[in-house]
Amino acid sequence: MITVKERPMTSKFGMKEDKTIYSVDNFNLWYGEDQALNEICMDIPTNKVTAIIGPSGCGKSTFIKALNRMVELIPSVKMTGSIDYNEQNIFNPKYNVEELRTSVGMVFQKPNPFPKSIYENVVYGPKIHGVKKKSILDEVVEKSLRGAALWDEVKDRLHENAFGLSGGQQQRLCIARCLAIEPEVILMDEPTSALDPISTLKVEELVQTLKKDYSIVIVTHNMQQAARISDKTAFFLNGEVIEYNDTDQIFSNPADKRTEDYITGRFG
Ligand SMILES: Nc1ncnc2c1ncn2[C@@H]1O[C@H](COP(=O)(O)OP(=O)(O)O)[C@@H](O)[C@H]1O
Ligand SMILES: [Mg+2]
Repeated sequence: MITVKERPMTSKFGMKEDKTIYSVDNFNLWYGEDQALNEICMDIPTNKVTAIIGPSGCGKSTFIKALNRMVELIPSVKMTGSIDYNEQNIFNPKYNVEELRTSVGMVFQKPNPFPKSIYENVVYGPKIHGVKKKSILDEVVEKSLRGAALWDEVKDRLHENAFGLSGGQQQRLCIARCLAIEPEVILMDEPTSALDPISTLKVEELVQTLKKDYSIVIVTHNMQQAARISDKTAFFLNGEVIEYNDTDQIFSNPADKRTEDYITGRFG
């Protein structure tokens, strides 16, 4: 008999399986003696939005920082298990972490533009990668800012300091800076929690458009946001994935009582 490992992302109708960009298997992570992630198994689909929800301290940020190996910059971190990105284990000693960092962009909770012009913020990554020609950099700037739905607002002030932008514009600039390196994946850690409602909606709309070209993993403690914008939702609790499924399913018919309690606001 053939045992097929159950993969929660198989399409409900069995017609077509999603393509997988990340495959996480039995992944554990400790900060010193404290275990922050416990036996995580998750396939993250290509060109979809995957939301990570759960109460504060349940390991959401730790998890997405494992996806680009940023977490290992913390000296006390120990990990076991595997995370495959495009079918290669990113923790294999031979794995090229530089390549991972150029194909996986990250956007943080607080917009963090550099104290430079809008233009210089966007070309920062490409310049590091050796792009020097002005005509090419100009093109990257326009394309990335258009991609981040910011071009029209800033095209006449590209050489002004990024700190002059509103918080929401700064966050879209950080997204543009991410797009400039032409990533495959965009990781977002509560990208709208410091933004006002209108800027939040703009970023949410943007995420919807971006998923055509990118695979997006977004941490949010805003459940309405997860329900509005994601295709898949994973509910984390105390470092474990309690439930991972199509977003509709998680919010309309959760399988686990703890998921239900969380989404109905009983805790967290
Ligand atoms: N740098 C760190 N050193 C030690 N413990 C940490 C560190 N970062 C996070 N933790 C702990 O790991 C757990 C998960 O944290 P985190 O991933 O930030 O959760 P979340 O993003 O869901 O709020 C928490 O108990 C937190 O205190
Ligand atoms: Mg966090």
